[in-house]
Amino acid sequence: MNYQIQSFAEYEEVYKYSLENPEAFWAKIAGYYKWSCLWREDKVLDWNFNEPNIKWFEGGKLNITENCLDRHLETLGNKKAIIWEPNDTNEATRTFTYKQLHEEVCRFANLLKNNGAQKGDRICIYMPMVPELAIAVLACARIGAIHSVVFGGFSAASISDRIQDAQCNIVITADGAFRGAKQIPLKSIIDEALVSCSSVKKVIVLERTKGDIEMKPDRDVWWHDEIVKVTADCQAELMDAEDLLFILYTSGSTGKPKGVVHTCGGYMVYVGYTFVNVFQYQPNEIFFCTADIGWVTGHSYIIYGPLLNGATTLMFEGIPNYPDAGRLWDIVAKHRVNILYTAPTAIRSLMQSGLDFIKGKDLTTLTKLGSVGEPINEEAWSWYHEHIGRSRCPIADTWWQTETGGIMISPIVGLGVTKPGYAMFPLPGIQLVIVDDQGQEIKGNNVNGNLCIKFPWPGMLRTTYGDHERCRLNYFSTYPNFYFTGDGCLRDSDGHYRITGRVDDVLNVSGHRIGTAEVENAIDMHPDVIETAVVGYPHAIKGQGIYAFVICKQLPKDEVNTRNEILKIVIKEIGAIAKPDKIQFVNGLPKTRSGKIMRRILRKIAEGELDNIGDVTTLLDPEVVQDIKRRRL
Ligand code: WTA
Repeated sequence: MNYQIQSFAEYEEVYKYSLENPEAFWAKIAGYYKWSCLWREDKVLDWNFNEPNIKWFEGGKLNITENCLDRHLETLGNKKAIIWEPNDTNEATRTFTYKQLHEEVCRFANLLKNNGAQKGDRICIYMPMVPELAIAVLACARIGAIHSVVFGGFSAASISDRIQDAQCNIVITADGAFRGAKQIPLKSIIDEALVSCSSVKKVIVLERTKGDIEMKPDRDVWWHDEIVKVTADCQAELMDAEDLLFILYTSGSTGKPKGVVHTCGGYMVYVGYTFVNVFQYQPNEIFFCTADIGWVTGHSYIIYGPLLNGATTLMFEGIPNYPDAGRLWDIVAKHRVNILYTAPTAIRSLMQSGLDFIKGKDLTTLTKLGSVGEPINEEAWSWYHEHIGRSRCPIADTWWQTETGGIMISPIVGLGVTKPGYAMFPLPGIQLVIVDDQGQEIKGNNVNGNLCIKFPWPGMLRTTYGDHERCRLNYFSTYPNFYFTGDGCLRDSDGHYRITGRVDDVLNVSGHRIGTAEVENAIDMHPDVIETAVVGYPHAIKGQGIYAFVICKQLPKDEVNTRNEILKIVIKEIGAIAKPDKIQFVNGLPKTRSGKIMRRILRKIAEGELDNIGDVTTLLDPEVVQDIKRRRL
């Protein structure tokens, strides 16, 4: 068996082998990496899904940065590791060879140590999409500190929650970020967040926008001042396979976002393997993933997956429609990108801008395309295929989650058939099951239900930080003995998988996960609001829009004003990405006699399916439904 699958027949063979011998299969894959000490032979995997307890490669010792960097120095030292494309088209591109990146990571790792960082510390990273973000992430991993990257679009309150939950002692940020025509004052947002975070002792600030900021003496230091004090010599910390590598906060159906925990050994093995296989990476290809490193896609397929395989990864600071809707295609042409991995939202929005932005752009270097983050509708798939891939590039529609660490269901691009809207097949080692609402496995083809996974894989989450019970309840209790994804899924008559969307109270807005409960809690902070119910509805570009039904003490006299006040609160509590598209003021919400909100009914109303609401007789007051329907936005 080779590390990279070469044909569809081989995929089938490897898949079968991985089902029959999962431990031997993963041990073999793990053997392709550099371990300072191998795992105990009888301990490839130790697991049960009840607690849950999942341990891979116990006894193994490694450092993921040795696998991302040191291992390549001899053969690929002068190869480009990172190509960075700035937000502003007039600014110069920056590139880092493997050798240079290794040096920068070692230097910054020493800087961290100089500023008190130790193995096991939690370090929050809130930065723009500049190479220093990747350097900061890798430097944490090098010294065994656990990184918690927070997306630059989250508000001070959200950051503060995350920092407190993980008890971070260091924050790495920048004065500001450029995003399209906007500047985001990262440092002042951090200052506001830190008012309520006593655990943070140091803030390291990168100069990027040169905006006016305040530096707090004793706490804040400049990256450029500190970096000259250290050498580029930094031995990688030896980590146990199950030591924590990072925490990444993500939304669930209840409460505040939870810190999904990934560990060093399993995550490394899984993202490296999936990167090289799904995208069929070839030695000189340039890989461009348009995600932000603040999300899991950026962690796994901008930083770790490509670097583990000695690939060249392109990192873009800006947004797809700045300075115009041709930006991604300009980047593809300028850097001669071979593999493009993006999100359906971006595709739909660029599709709407029209074909003029693609005309004359040299996209001939593209060989393979990928999609991630949300279901891709057929129209967007076909447009991507025809206009970007020029009908020559196969598309990998990749399904996975923050919790899965890496891609789980996807065509192995270029090998075998694809079908618009279908993520197709599980990757080797991944044992999918579709269950009904009672948790019974639905066998055979032409079926649909809830997507679960019945056997561990190395990249899966181990816990939710500081609250293992929450991890159990969220993922392992709905259907005993299975990991429950929260997604609905169908398997067609040929055994191909199609993800149909979330079946829980999680929204997917522009590929970003947002919990309805989070938005409801934010809206409820408005002094006039009594209760709120938030649901998703189909949105032509964002995939899902956010529709809020809000009960105020009395119907607002000035709806526009109250709506604006509510939006401000959501932006303050979560960030602009969670802003409701529609806010409807209502007199009551459809509730059962036991007081549970019937979201099914609200969803139908939000979707505009007014004649298809279903049974309302179990409601406490069926009249409210008429009232809501009448006043629908
Ligand atoms: C959705 C992003 C359909 C799904 C990597 C999942 C998808 C959630 C796809 C995870 C896809 C992701 N087709 N739906 N190809 N990829 N999703 O944690 O609902 O930000 O549960 O991870 O996105 O979002 P997350």
